[in-house]
Amino acid sequence: MKIIFTSLAAVVLFLCTTKGLGQQNAVSQATEKKWWKEAVVYQIYPRSFKDSDGDGIGDLKGIISKLDYIKKLGIDVVWLNPIYSSPNDDNGYDVSDYRNIMKDFGTMSDFDSLIAEMHKRGIRLVMDLVVNHSSDEHEWFKQSRSSRTNPYRDYYHWWNAERGNPSPRYSLFDINHDAWRYDSLTNSYYLHYFSRKQPDLNWENPKLRQEVYDIMKFWADKGIDGFRLDAFGFAAKDTSFPVFPIRNEKNFMLYYAMGPHLHEYLREMNDQVFSKYDVMSVAEGAGNTFDDAHNLVDADRRELNMAYAFEGIDIAKPEGYSLLHFKEVFSRWDSAFEHKGWLSIVLSNHDQARMVSRFGNDRPQYRALSSKMLSTFLMTMRGTPYYYNGDELGMTNSAFRNIHDFRDVSALNEYQHLINIHGDTSTYLKRLKFEGRDNGRTPFQWDTSANAGFTTGTPWIAVNPNYKTINAKLVKLRKNNPALVYGSYHLLDKNNPTVYAYTREDNGMKFLILLNFSPDKVQTNIGISLTGAKLLLSNDQRAQGSPVTVLNPYEACIYQLQ
Ligand code: NOJ
Repeated sequence: MKIIFTSLAAVVLFLCTTKGLGQQNAVSQATEKKWWKEAVVYQIYPRSFKDSDGDGIGDLKGIISKLDYIKKLGIDVVWLNPIYSSPNDDNGYDVSDYRNIMKDFGTMSDFDSLIAEMHKRGIRLVMDLVVNHSSDEHEWFKQSRSSRTNPYRDYYHWWNAERGNPSPRYSLFDINHDAWRYDSLTNSYYLHYFSRKQPDLNWENPKLRQEVYDIMKFWADKGIDGFRLDAFGFAAKDTSFPVFPIRNEKNFMLYYAMGPHLHEYLREMNDQVFSKYDVMSVAEGAGNTFDDAHNLVDADRRELNMAYAFEGIDIAKPEGYSLLHFKEVFSRWDSAFEHKGWLSIVLSNHDQARMVSRFGNDRPQYRALSSKMLSTFLMTMRGTPYYYNGDELGMTNSAFRNIHDFRDVSALNEYQHLINIHGDTSTYLKRLKFEGRDNGRTPFQWDTSANAGFTTGTPWIAVNPNYKTINAKLVKLRKNNPALVYGSYHLLDKNNPTVYAYTREDNGMKFLILLNFSPDKVQTNIGISLTGAKLLLSNDQRAQGSPVTVLNPYEACIYQLQ
């Protein structure tokens, strides 16, 4: 019998047949059952998902119209990028009112319908919480900058100019890379690690912290099911702003993130919010070391639920990547979290180019196959898988030609910076084409109609011109078999440069996963007995009983072992 997965339905069938297995007693934190461990998270970039009113921008009603699609994928949790009021300097990551909905996206009543319709379908909602910084158009900032004695002054970080120049801080999105912006109104500088329209909030101020917890309770009371904390490692800063050791001005990981009071803030947030609701919590980034990551998420610390680390996602480079490196990184993280804490498994998001273009192969003959192979990886590792919208269709990087095709503030400002310093804009453009964030933000390709069925108007960013060939069947893989969620992970054929092979095992149930990360037919040497092994899924035409020592290009298969 040939077993092919061309739709999620096949996966769901697979799950049903294995449901109920692995009901072992919780022996460690890592095997303790939690809904957010068993969930598959689907990240929606609202601006590009589905436009309901023809203004070229995705909106909440558009999302509502596609909830059945999401449900069919087998998704339990949707993470929505920010939908709060915003002047959109950074596509919603610059919030001007945390208790309102961005006009482009609809109204609060649309939001109420969205959450009701999601819950009706058994889908939970995780919202982005952007509180390392606000918009400079937030009322707090307007007040804060108005005078040195305003009660909101200490909601942000100010440096009075008569103290001399503040010690340099690097800004990720600023045209001059300068995180201090001079404001003549009060003869002071304010701090912004991101764009100058994203001033950093002062977490040392207990009033500010209370405001944030109140905002969180506002949304939790509306029934949301979780928070993703944006850039939160940066919230805790050394506010004496010491001079960084020379040549470390840009060392974000070491000098900017994971500041002195971070864990106090998170524990306070947990006491006031997380512990009072059945919500999941994840912060962007997991610190600099495994200890940092554990300190954020180990259950006995009462801070966050799961780590979202970047070491894996960052492996793909324009010049390619080594699978040995990839295996080493994911295996190392798995073993560090074997007994305590919990991980997110991620290969793409709205800050990355497309998964298949970075980790698979987006040439027409391999796009679908390699997307499915990567999906198999995401769905069979220990940790909560995060699927970025469109990856289930194998959406690829776009065909941006010049800087005018881009919309992302970080890309536009960096380009302008290079012009200003007479830098190499053409190399930068080449880089952007491969790794620019807008690659992941082009409109969702629903069908072969005009603008890929995303909008009846003019899309805010051009649709990827390859949309006519990409609207294939659903290929998303979903697995919530307990052994695949909680089971131990064991790497096989470790030094094979093209095959990623591993087992997942729990409570007498054992699966073998074989993934060919190359366009070649390759050998595997897994060194375990396959007597009685049963092929459960394959992205190729593999027949039951065929030898697994040779894998076809980008082939992925899952076996159940005796
Ligand atoms: C991380 C978000 O994922 C990214 O999109 C945003 O630009 C920055 N934080 C600033 O909020």
